[in-house]
Amino acid sequence: MLVLGLETTCDETAAAVVSLRSDGSGVILSNEVFSQIAQHAAYGGVVPEIAARAHVEVIDRLTGRALATAGIGLSDLSGIAAAAGPGLIGGVLVGLTTAKTLALVARKPLLAVNHLEGHALTARLTDAVPFPYLLLLASGGHTQLVAVRGVGDYLRLGTTVDDAIGEAFDKVAKLLGLPYPGGPPVEREAERGDPERFGLPRPMLGRDRPDFSLSGLKTALRIEAEKVAPLTGTDVADLCASFQAAVVDVVVDRTRVALKLFRREVGHPSALVAAGGVAANGPIRRALARLAGEAGLKLVAPPLDLCGDNGAIIAWAGLERLRLGLADDLTAPARARWPLEAATAA
Ligand code: KG4
Ligand code: ZN
Repeated sequence: MLVLGLETTCDETAAAVVSLRSDGSGVILSNEVFSQIAQHAAYGGVVPEIAARAHVEVIDRLTGRALATAGIGLSDLSGIAAAAGPGLIGGVLVGLTTAKTLALVARKPLLAVNHLEGHALTARLTDAVPFPYLLLLASGGHTQLVAVRGVGDYLRLGTTVDDAIGEAFDKVAKLLGLPYPGGPPVEREAERGDPERFGLPRPMLGRDRPDFSLSGLKTALRIEAEKVAPLTGTDVADLCASFQAAVVDVVVDRTRVALKLFRREVGHPSALVAAGGVAANGPIRRALARLAGEAGLKLVAPPLDLCGDNGAIIAWAGLERLRLGLADDLTAPARARWPLEAATAA
């Protein structure tokens, strides 16, 4: 099985070819990612109109390159997948329409993949993790704890009531004059900062539903920053370290509660899985690995280049669906909103 996957829901244009290995995991034959970050950096966030235009400009070339690197032609494919949402609708339309056109021309099955399902199934691409498992999905747009029971069978245990974790990193970075996206520079600054200098809150800690709240933490950080302004390099590093330490505490506590809920409502998880851009964060990964170890589980977190948005995770989700006979027809809609729980297998 060979599946092409296109990703255009946010600020990465991506195309990849993935095939199935005999042990049930996947092989990435190509994974082309064109990041638009430079085009959005000046605005401190993604500008939808700029994103849509940039996707149009590179998607054809990128798709050609993904096929060429994989050493295959369109006719060799078993299916063509695109992320059909959730995301910025102009961008989603670019990828989905491209996939529909290729599917029509090459007479191949179309797979309209939920972008979140791509992140949710990445651990099966890399590690053939069996169902069910507990997933922490944390990116710029989403923060969810999900029981992944099967392809298209997702039970959301908890979510954020306000900002996503990645969004909080981005906002903190902006506040402190660090570049976008904020996760990597905040993590870097935190390395040389004092995590105990600023006593920041740990919102939701101890609550018995595994939900998150990040906006109060961000506001508390802003107040602390205003108190010590103008900020020195040390101030910025200490603020980043204090913020990241608070996020780590919250993530561990919320995930521990989700594990308990999982055991009660679903059964024994095969693993703890982290996915989404925030899963690239070293201290968060290490804390989750410790938590998993205490619970007698393995932490499966994708390699860094598969944490963020890319075509391989979309191709893989498409391949998993195709294997179950779940192809879509050419009327599949582009969706700005599309909760993971609604990405049903039927
Ligand atoms: O999954 P992703 O690439 O795109 C979305 O679907 O949102 O995630 C991007 C998000 C951004 O908010 C970025 O700041 C965050 O992931 N991120 C990180 C790190 N690397 C990326 N957050 C914390 N630490 C990191 N090292
Ligand atoms: Zn994503």
